[in-house]
Amino acid sequence: MTISEHTTRLAGKVAIITGGASGIGRASAELFARDGARVVIADRAAEQGESVAADLRAAGYQALFVPTDVARAADAERAVKTAMDTFGPPDILFSNAGVLRIGSFWEMSEADFDALVAVNFKGAFLMARAVLLPMIQRGRGSIIFTASNLAFQGLARFSAYCGTKGALVAMARSLALEAGPHGIRVNCICPGPILTPMQDVPLAEYADPKTVLREAAQNVPVRRLGQPADVAQLALYLASDESTFVTGAAFVIDGGASAQ
Ligand SMILES: NC(=O)c1ccc[n+]([C@@H]2O[C@H](COP(=O)([O-])OP(=O)(O)OC[C@H]3O[C@@H](n4cnc5c(N)ncnc54)[C@H](O)[C@@H]3O)[C@@H](O)[C@H]2O)c1
Repeated sequence: MTISEHTTRLAGKVAIITGGASGIGRASAELFARDGARVVIADRAAEQGESVAADLRAAGYQALFVPTDVARAADAERAVKTAMDTFGPPDILFSNAGVLRIGSFWEMSEADFDALVAVNFKGAFLMARAVLLPMIQRGRGSIIFTASNLAFQGLARFSAYCGTKGALVAMARSLALEAGPHGIRVNCICPGPILTPMQDVPLAEYADPKTVLREAAQNVPVRRLGQPADVAQLALYLASDESTFVTGAAFVIDGGASAQ
């Protein structure tokens, strides 16, 4: 575990984190657990997800892994039901699972396009839909989607991925309007380049990935790429009661890259 600070900003809360087996989701699962949440990791990577949950339990936290393909409605509903049966109704959904497929627009396969939409956009819809009724019944909840700074900026060869992230930001705004009167907040996190296994996809196109990463860091105003823990801290704020006046918003977290 990489996060050492320990507070209790999520004490007593139940948090479902999709994509919690790796990268941003994993760092968030660790941070949320340390801050007092009972954490449900919903991911399709069974071995990794179980290992993250087991490590958290070994460290004395309450954590559970539920094998979940967020693109399947039955899985999304089962993840929420298992969370409720084990820990109680969800206070927080961090809908963060995502995939990346890149390539020239005219060569992208229908299968790659469908995978992007199914996981990045439909998966977020299915998970949010599954938590909304229990949240409405209790009159509270925080839903956080991981979009991307690419919801706002174009990037050649990433068109379909960018489209799914823009769609998430648009969906979150409208859901925030609908859910607000029920005490439920909906926000998006829009990271720039974060050092996670997802970066292996674009880096695989280069002979010397280390040089590419070094140069990429030089193009960021704070002169480094992001770490998963950077994003987890923003997710923690949006999940906690410190942000009760924050909804319908999209937060860019990119070291200033898109401010240029
Ligand atoms: N890394 C970045 O630079 C970056 C930048 C902007 C946005 N994001 C977004 O952040 C989110 C987290 O990505 P990451 O960088 O931590 O990558 P990652 O590859 O480390 O983690 C993604 C996780 O999602 C899981 N997942 C994929 N498809 C799934 C499915 N159908 N059902 C359930 N789980 C599934 C994977 O198993 C994995 O554990 C993604 O939505 C990604 O698009 C990442």
